[in-house]
Amino acid sequence: MTCTKKSTNICIFAFFVVFLHPQTVFYAMIEVKNLYKSFGELEVLKGVNLRVEKGEIVAIVGKSGAGKTTLLQIIGTLDRPTKGQVLIQGTDVFAMKDRDLAAFRNRHVGFIFQFHQLLPEFTALENVCIPAMIAREKESDYTARATKLLTDLGLSDRLQHKPNALSGGEKQRVAAARALMMSPDIILADEPTGSLDEKNKRELSDLLLQLRKDYGQTILLVTHDKELASMADRVIEIKDGVIG
Ligand SMILES: Nc1ncnc2c1ncn2[C@@H]1O[C@H](COP(=O)(O)OP(=O)(O)O)[C@@H](O)[C@H]1O
Ligand SMILES: [Mg+2]
Repeated sequence: MTCTKKSTNICIFAFFVVFLHPQTVFYAMIEVKNLYKSFGELEVLKGVNLRVEKGEIVAIVGKSGAGKTTLLQIIGTLDRPTKGQVLIQGTDVFAMKDRDLAAFRNRHVGFIFQFHQLLPEFTALENVCIPAMIAREKESDYTARATKLLTDLGLSDRLQHKPNALSGGEKQRVAAARALMMSPDIILADEPTGSLDEKNKRELSDLLLQLRKDYGQTILLVTHDKELASMADRVIEIKDGVIG
């Protein structure tokens, strides 16, 4: 094929994308392959398969005890499976040593938990800074970034408040800012609206949509909340240890 000047540029661009960033082209953001997890005799996950593309919002539903949290914790590399693989942009995460895995997690995955899990003795700003401190970034850089995130989330006048001086919705927004601190590719949220009232539920749901719009994040959320699930691109159910 002869390339004109324009198509030469396209060829060069395609070369850079395909050869230098193959994960962008070929791999799903998250791929779970034949995943099993047992706790002693109890088999919770029995061959889960799941593929989530970049920028997708996927809601996971299922009865209490179905294994939703277990699956989310394994995808977030906080726990290891009994068998099976999790690939994040093509990287087989459990092939990594624990230390490398911890660094990988800090860079690529942000968590929002039901009870926000902020550290009570630290201010909102300090809580948000923690992932960057762990990554040994420069203080002035991460303080500026955390301040901007909290400001973007409407908390500019709450930077120095400790969690017990914040409302439920504010705490959940601080937790969202902390999850975003390292610009993760993936946000994992486990019952993020579980401790919120109706108004704050709606705000969190809007916030997740906004995050995807502004930062292009892939969001996997576990929820009982039908309204929150309905804003996802896809709802999947865990039943009898598999995704139906
Ligand atoms: N660390 C653990 N040790 C033993 N059993 C566990 C552990 N974590 C979860 N389980 C059990 O695994 C099952 C699935 O739990 P979980 O993933 O928390 O369910 P869900 O989030 O869907 O309510 C439950 O029966 C729970 O008791
Ligand atoms: Mg759970």
